[in-house]
Amino acid sequence: MQDLSSLTNHQIRLAARPVGLPTRENWSFTTEPVAEPADGGVLVKTLFLSLDPAMRGWMNDVKSYIAPVGIGEVMRAGGIGVVVASKNPAFAVGDHVSAGLGVQEYCLIAQDQLKRSGIFKIDTRLGTPTQWLNVLGMPGMTGYFGLMDVGQPKAGETVVVSGAAGAVGQTVGQLARIKGARAVGIAGGKAKCDWVVNELGFDACIDYKGGSVRDGLKAHCPQGVDVYFDNVGGEILDHVLARINRKARIVICGAISQYNNTAPVQGPKNYLSLLVNRARMEGIVVFDYADRYPVAVAEMAGYLKDGRMKSKEDVVSGLDTFPETLLKLFNGENFGKLVLQVAS
Ligand SMILES: NC(=O)c1ccc[n+]([C@@H]2O[C@H](COP(=O)([O-])OP(=O)(O)OC[C@H]3O[C@@H](n4cnc5c(N)ncnc54)[C@H](OP(=O)(O)O)[C@@H]3O)[C@@H](O)[C@H]2O)c1
Repeated sequence: MQDLSSLTNHQIRLAARPVGLPTRENWSFTTEPVAEPADGGVLVKTLFLSLDPAMRGWMNDVKSYIAPVGIGEVMRAGGIGVVVASKNPAFAVGDHVSAGLGVQEYCLIAQDQLKRSGIFKIDTRLGTPTQWLNVLGMPGMTGYFGLMDVGQPKAGETVVVSGAAGAVGQTVGQLARIKGARAVGIAGGKAKCDWVVNELGFDACIDYKGGSVRDGLKAHCPQGVDVYFDNVGGEILDHVLARINRKARIVICGAISQYNNTAPVQGPKNYLSLLVNRARMEGIVVFDYADRYPVAVAEMAGYLKDGRMKSKEDVVSGLDTFPETLLKLFNGENFGKLVLQVAS
């Protein structure tokens, strides 16, 4: 086992709750010595962290599907790491694992915290570590179960997905195509839209920054919208509501356009379209499907292998860049799943 006594763990903690976009002042940068695991525990060295829009919600002191991060706590983050010390027979030094590691270089997980951390060994033959944070990881599972369980696309139907070039969006559109539906993305900028169509095989993509979403939907969804997978909320949701078909399914996955609001969240104005069209909107929280992740991982790993699915990650290096890197999600600078590389 490696000598851990000389190692220092650099951490980023929540220092204050943000109003609007988080700034550097919302974080504190701390260090502590790296400790040996006690019986039954493991020590994991962080390689990659998943940066997620949900992190903004976890910084608020409000009731949600998960408790907020406390002031002074290490910021919550999922990640991929390597076991560097183990007193648990289920994990060996050198194993690659996925777990809630937090925004820090080393994560000591006691035996009674293993389940809560969600730790599991990843099979690097199925995908690279960053793919395990994307298509094979939490965003991929969100796209898979949100689309398949709630959206329930049928062959020939039209599926629209916003945030199409992002982590969840790329899975949703590609999966919709694999299942025989038409996939129409909505994304910010020509480069993202071109990639979604030319590389991922979506049927079309509407650039909401470069033109009218209303006109784009009219042009690219001539038969209306059967499934809308909503990642952004706000005005785009209202535009799609205006074009849904009878019995349409709207998957409420996220509303990133609203996460940094200092005013109350803007709800849909066109909701009576649900009544007229006998349609429904349903929220999804990915963790509810944890028992079924292995089935989805096996299916999606097959698509990665046979080339029917691609997985694009936007990897930024350096733990210290976390405060600024996180903001890429909210200004649309990330192109693909945003990942922070902490160690090589
Ligand atoms: N319910 C769940 O269990 C669950 C799980 C995971 C994620 N989510 C949600 O899924 C959504 C996507 O997450 P992700 O990890 O895949 O992020 P992502 O799409 O990889 O990154 C966020 C993207 O959102 C877009 N965006 C930012 N501000 C926007 C605005 N004002 N209007 C429209 N688009 C905006 C940007 O893309 P453009 O350049 O295209 O604007 C940005 O790249 C988020 O709402 C997230 O909270 C939910």
